[in-house]
Amino acid sequence: MTFPKDFIWGAATSAYQIEGAAQEDGRGPSIWDVFCRKSSAVWQGASGDIACDHYHCFREDIALMREISLQAYRFSIAWPRVLPQGTGPVNTAGLDFYDCLVDDLLAAGITPHVTLFHWDYPQVLHGQGGWLNRDSSNWFAEYASVVASRLSDRVQNWFTINEPQIFIVCGYQHGSLAPGERLEFSQVLLAAHNVLLAHGKAVQAIRSLAQAKPSVGYALSVNPVAIPATNSADDIQAAQQAFFANAQKGRLNNSWWTDPVVFGCYPGDGIALFANALPPIGDSDMQIISQPLDFLGLNVYFGELYRASAGGAPMMIPFAPGHTRTSFGWPVVPESLYWATRFYAERYKLPIIISENGMSNSDAPGSDGAVHDPQRIAFLQNYLHELKRACSEGIDVRGYFLWSLMDNFEWAAGYRERFGIVYVDYRTQKRIAKDSASWYRQVIAANGALL
Ligand code: FCB
Repeated sequence: MTFPKDFIWGAATSAYQIEGAAQEDGRGPSIWDVFCRKSSAVWQGASGDIACDHYHCFREDIALMREISLQAYRFSIAWPRVLPQGTGPVNTAGLDFYDCLVDDLLAAGITPHVTLFHWDYPQVLHGQGGWLNRDSSNWFAEYASVVASRLSDRVQNWFTINEPQIFIVCGYQHGSLAPGERLEFSQVLLAAHNVLLAHGKAVQAIRSLAQAKPSVGYALSVNPVAIPATNSADDIQAAQQAFFANAQKGRLNNSWWTDPVVFGCYPGDGIALFANALPPIGDSDMQIISQPLDFLGLNVYFGELYRASAGGAPMMIPFAPGHTRTSFGWPVVPESLYWATRFYAERYKLPIIISENGMSNSDAPGSDGAVHDPQRIAFLQNYLHELKRACSEGIDVRGYFLWSLMDNFEWAAGYRERFGIVYVDYRTQKRIAKDSASWYRQVIAANGALL
């Protein structure tokens, strides 16, 4: 069992979760700045105003990445830092920040992987209807063009959008993430359609402006991954069916977000189930949405178990009492990484990048000043072992980005959840590499041979 020779070992973050400097150097407000000020929206009323102050500490953070020997770093660009009005005048200072970040990463021998959109939508555009406005895909394409024009001489790896299903379903249907809306399902599907169009137009923009051949994909949340309870062919088929089925109106499933971008059509079961809520689809929409991609990014955290019932239909099996969970309450299920990768590769036949995987824990410095996080090491060891299994079976997995480089603002959970392999003391902005950081360094050095 082995990882491919040129496998990419990285770590990931996103702009709003780490940058801070929310009012600095001309950055415009995002929907997250506004959402965080709503009462009870975020745990303990926290916000990303300061977060890890990465905007000022990025050099120190790159030095840490170097110590860990990261080969690649996935970060996102804050749209309202670059275009404070969402469209129109470019904020040079904002763009300069990312320009320096890219230069310094490259100088440190770390390959930048840029996510264009990781949830911090410009508030001004939200006021104009946001993702419900059909123009929203053009706004995003304009932003993508500005970024690609400036960075694509040095950046080759692009993710258009992070976890569209989470920010749309949680942001527009359940109201638990920004912008905190609770809309009718037809409106949710309309916003979803515009996000898919935005993805397609951004791919076009990157490809037409890229100064070197780019690698472009997008990052899906695939949680919970449906995992066969046994290795029987029937259970595997039942899990695969559950994983891609559109079986509930409330929750948009994996194929709703992936079939359009890869196959150029919405899945039939979803079309039937959502029949009276479907958005208008323009003649060229599906062609725009299904631009050729170089890879699919999967954010993998947890799974649930399925068995084939007597009639063959998928049946969920509860975990045994006391099943291990992270501090977020997410079940620890290492096989999630294997099955997500395998099911996606089989259905979509595209290379896979694990764009996020990791766990939150209540980490704290010990009396020796170090941060010991054996649970995280065990978690990563077991999950990565499953990824190795996928690679050894010949599944085309190109890389792995650990979530996250450092503890950060975990959206509605504020600063309660620590996902980093680097500890952040938010009062002093002091960073301490956790034990898992040195462990990851060894994994990278051995290209996963220790797993
Ligand atoms: C994912 C998000 C990421 C982070 C992790 C824990 O859903 O993409 O920003 O919050 O979960």
